[in-house]
Amino acid sequence: MTGQLLFSASLISPEVQAALPPGYKVRPLASDDYERGFLDTLAVLTEIGDISKAQFLERFNYLKQHNHEYFTIVILSPDDRVVGAGTIFVERKFIRNTGLVGHIEDIAVNKNQQGKKLGLRVIQTLKYIGANRGCYKVILDCSEKNVPFYEKCGFTRKEVEMAWYC
Ligand code: ACO
Repeated sequence: MTGQLLFSASLISPEVQAALPPGYKVRPLASDDYERGFLDTLAVLTEIGDISKAQFLERFNYLKQHNHEYFTIVILSPDDRVVGAGTIFVERKFIRNTGLVGHIEDIAVNKNQQGKKLGLRVIQTLKYIGANRGCYKVILDCSEKNVPFYEKCGFTRKEVEMAWYC
């Protein structure tokens, strides 16, 4: 049994599901993925903090109320553990005739599962959602060392990322 899904499973690409290794599954984030190790998977990205189940659910419920904008997906291993994750955020613009831009964020694959094309499948899943929602482009920021990975995922280098920490 899986908990509540963040958004409709109809937005998950059947082609990506079919391309996963046997026993692996891709689906929207679920309300009980806390127990399946979702935060442990994100820990390959940065410090996560000591997040309680209540904090997880508070954030999950916020995202669910805004699930026309936030799409977080997970990949599960055959033993039902979260081993991959990623998010696309759909921004509503005035420019480009009130166009939509997809922002890919927080792509993570568990260390012991890397190199099995799961990262590629996470990105393909998010690109499918972005295209389906009507985004005219999908963009992301990454480190220099991840450029070859994103090139393999069909992205090209464009512009420069700037940051200001509050
Ligand atoms: N340098 C060169 N090529 C790479 C790299 C790399 N660092 N990483 C992956 N590739 C290549 C693979 O060799 C493969 O190529 P192939 O098709 O020729 O065989 C292709 O990219 C797809 O690789 P995957 O197996 O799908 O990659 P993986 O599942 O290991 O996931 C990821 C890649 C997500 C970067 C993973 O290593 C990870 O979680 N790293 C730590 C967290 C991180 O850096 N996340 C990205 C942050 S940026 C953001 O979130 C927008």
